[in-house]
Amino acid sequence: MNEADILIIGSGAAGLTAALTLAQQHKVLVLAKGPLTGGSTHWAQGGIAAVLDAGDTFDNHIRDTMVAGAGLNRRETVEFVVERAPRAIARLSELGVPFNTAGADLHLTREGGHSHRRIVHVADATGRAVQAALLAAAEAHPNITLLPDRTCVELITGRNEERYSGSGRVWGVYALDPSGKIGAYTARATILAAGGAGRVYQFSTAPRGATGDGIAMAWRAGARVSNMEMMQFHPTCLYHLGVKNFLITEAVRGEGGRLINPRTAKRFMEFYDPERMELAPRDIVARAIDAEIKRFGLDCVHLDISHMGADFVRGHFPNIHEKLLRLDIDMTREPIPVVPAQHYTCGGIVIDLTGRTDLPGLYAAGECTESGLHGANRLASNSLLECFVFGEASAQDILDRWDEFPMPPTIREWDESRVTDSDEEVVIKQNWTEIRRFMWNYVGIVRTTKRLERAAHRIALLHGEIDDYYGHFRVTTDLVELRNLLQCADLIVQCALRRHESRGLHFTLDHPETDAEALDTVLVP
Ligand code: FAD
Ligand code: SIN
Repeated sequence: MNEADILIIGSGAAGLTAALTLAQQHKVLVLAKGPLTGGSTHWAQGGIAAVLDAGDTFDNHIRDTMVAGAGLNRRETVEFVVERAPRAIARLSELGVPFNTAGADLHLTREGGHSHRRIVHVADATGRAVQAALLAAAEAHPNITLLPDRTCVELITGRNEERYSGSGRVWGVYALDPSGKIGAYTARATILAAGGAGRVYQFSTAPRGATGDGIAMAWRAGARVSNMEMMQFHPTCLYHLGVKNFLITEAVRGEGGRLINPRTAKRFMEFYDPERMELAPRDIVARAIDAEIKRFGLDCVHLDISHMGADFVRGHFPNIHEKLLRLDIDMTREPIPVVPAQHYTCGGIVIDLTGRTDLPGLYAAGECTESGLHGANRLASNSLLECFVFGEASAQDILDRWDEFPMPPTIREWDESRVTDSDEEVVIKQNWTEIRRFMWNYVGIVRTTKRLERAAHRIALLHGEIDDYYGHFRVTTDLVELRNLLQCADLIVQCALRRHESRGLHFTLDHPETDAEALDTVLVP
């Protein structure tokens, strides 16, 4: 048994922010699946939203967030996060994140849905710099232990106590180590910061490990999950047969990039959102591209910023420019072929302003949560911000209430007495591919009740097959991920079937209208 004061699942922006705050007073253990840089944080491009410009106000940022979120946001959360943004940026600067500057100030770029320049960034690879700075600080801290290559399988609750107490409290997690052994990692408090569930879709900008493990584990342990139908599709993922998930940052449109229909050679956003054009919120731009692709039978549309001049393009987007050159696309001279792809999980584990979940001893922060910030559609560059604010808020609440957290009792060992090694790995690959494909085709950008019901039917069949497999064979990371992908697909479809309106990211041809009242879809286990 491994014991820490506090256990954190996830080494991205949310997990490491929490770890650095807690380590001032306590021993912290951070577990990550695969490498410590394996989450979405490392891949973030555009930047972090914060009111830093003299002409900008918190009210503007709050309004933009709620307009993008189609009114489903909780205003209290939006205010809480927006007001803490400048301090979060200051903390990152202190940690050494080399944000781009313009004279004495930080350079602010612009993205869709923002009424002002508001995005601080490190060129077009902000996440890499943020992840590196947080990791360097965590590695240097004597109170933080970082353990990569630990796949958390299931939260430890009252059900796993040696002397069963029946309490709903969370005491840590069972995790698989590289030798294939599952061990118990216990703590007085646990923070889930395990990222999103993007890989539930066939096309996604998210990294391989974004399989919704945190959401699925919390749900199975008894926590409520909400608004899972609100899956964000980024309008501009590179369309290339050899490269599956390379994002072209929204800042390309923010800095003047135009979307062109390659058949008509015309800008098409004027037919969908003539005022905001390419800078309309993501749901609108992604649906517009989807509509053009379907109407004209296209493979992709074009994103063109070549008119801004080669120096400007190379200066603002050095990493994207270089990556595309390696694929024989010169964005200083020609348009970039793009398609929408899943990008962000707006829904998740229900938390309050202190990061508490429904389960005593369990906190959550970052993309695995539904905090009320994003509502029906996340405003660009608000999600790293949410990680910093709720990573710190959850840590602070644990520090404030430390004496209320009991020591963990003795926990039962993981029982492997009735399982054998699998001789049918093909089942995992087949089911993984099947889930991602039907989710893309039936639960994508434009939905219908019939397609959602088809997906629900497939999910019910796969539940039987995968549960049976899980019950008989030794657990592997692939199997854990498959089980969690299916769980998340189920939660997404259940939420989507319950929402009888179109709002933000949930657009269904059977209910195209938006209800007068905005209500969360809350699933209770
Ligand atoms: P992550 O950074 O995803 O980290 C998850 C952690 O959980 C990882 O350490 C992982 O190993 C661990 N984990 C997962 N499952 C398990 C398990 N079973 N056991 C143990 N550990 C586990 N947002 C912005 O605000 N601005 C941007 O510019 C921006 N650009 C983006 C570009 C791309 C390509 C992508 C994919 C996303 C972008 N986002 C952006 C979104 C943002 O990056 C994420 O929402 C944010 O980084 C999530 O951080 P997190 O800490 O919640 O999770
Ligand atoms: C991007 O750079 O376009 C991603 C920004 C975000 O997801 O917030």
